[in-house]
Amino acid sequence: MKASDTSAETGVNAIVQVRGLSKTYDNGHQALKNIDLDIREGEILALLGPNGAGKTTLISIICGLVNASGGTVLVGGYDHVKQYRKSRELIGLVPQELALGAFELVENTVALSRGLFGKSKNPEFIQQLLENLSLGDKATSPVNRLSGGMKRRVLIAKALSHEPRVLFLDEPTAGVDVELRKDMWAVIDELRADGVTIILTTHYIEEAEAIADRVGVINAGEILVIEDKQVLMDKLGKKQLVIELREAIKTIPAELEEFNLQLCEVGNTLTYTYDIRAERTGITRLLNDVQNAGLTLKDISTSQSSLEDIFVNLVKADA
Ligand SMILES: Nc1ncnc2c1ncn2[C@@H]1O[C@H](COP(=O)(O)OP(=O)(O)OP(=O)(O)O)[C@@H](O)[C@H]1O
Ligand SMILES: [Mg+2]
Repeated sequence: MKASDTSAETGVNAIVQVRGLSKTYDNGHQALKNIDLDIREGEILALLGPNGAGKTTLISIICGLVNASGGTVLVGGYDHVKQYRKSRELIGLVPQELALGAFELVENTVALSRGLFGKSKNPEFIQQLLENLSLGDKATSPVNRLSGGMKRRVLIAKALSHEPRVLFLDEPTAGVDVELRKDMWAVIDELRADGVTIILTTHYIEEAEAIADRVGVINAGEILVIEDKQVLMDKLGKKQLVIELREAIKTIPAELEEFNLQLCEVGNTLTYTYDIRAERTGITRLLNDVQNAGLTLKDISTSQSSLEDIFVNLVKADA
């Protein structure tokens, strides 16, 4: 797929503009290949990709933590290398790894982060920030007494301490339970309502589905596709019903033609692909028609296209 097919639009409303970005690590591994990306002001963009896809590398370069091998990044119009301070000031980063000083008090660690950006002290702002993240009553707790989920919130507070316009969240919900994940989504939603542009990476399709406006799929250092969520989910949201027959058949009976079934080589399974989001999946009718066609079911099962399948399909289409 050519870069022009993916994301780089006119860049008019792009708060972050990435052009031709590449990264080859010292060991020769090419982690990013010619990435073009426009992040729109005010959006929630989810970058979906498997381990090693290059998500953290991309974010780290935009935030100025890792040097690119080629290409340019503008944040709010400022070059991320030549105008590092200006560019970095606009960015908040919640890193993938939980890295917090153990004994520091919550409010101190957040205030310190603000200070690092040369912003004037503002205890009221910090207190409000902690409250917005449901950490109001933890302000004077040592960080090491907090649960993992609360520590993540502290990381978000730190990332927001200097009032950035763009917030990068690198796998904010990896390894957290369902309830906390939903809390995190609510927090992210509120931040967006405050006008913060949000980019998060995730392995979870349902996470992208729950909160993103746009979804980018990244694999092996390339952005394979980037689209409005609904469009992408419609494309990816395929599910399969596998019907195992008691007796093998040679051809699909004519009365089942409309279902576009696939018959396996052995002739004992029929696979029906349908859209999860469709109001009517056609399954009931299919099962009826299968019986009416004189076929006897042995077993049925469903499978949903996993992220893995989706990547395989995207990569195939890419070749
Ligand atoms: N410092 C480094 N030196 C060499 N290779 C690296 C370095 N950091 C990352 N890589 C490699 O670059 C590729 C992309 O890594 P990256 O951390 O960006 O992926 P990711 O999409 O964030 O993965 P994950 O979902 O596991 O966090 C991987 O193959 C990784 O092994
Ligand atoms: Mg990562």
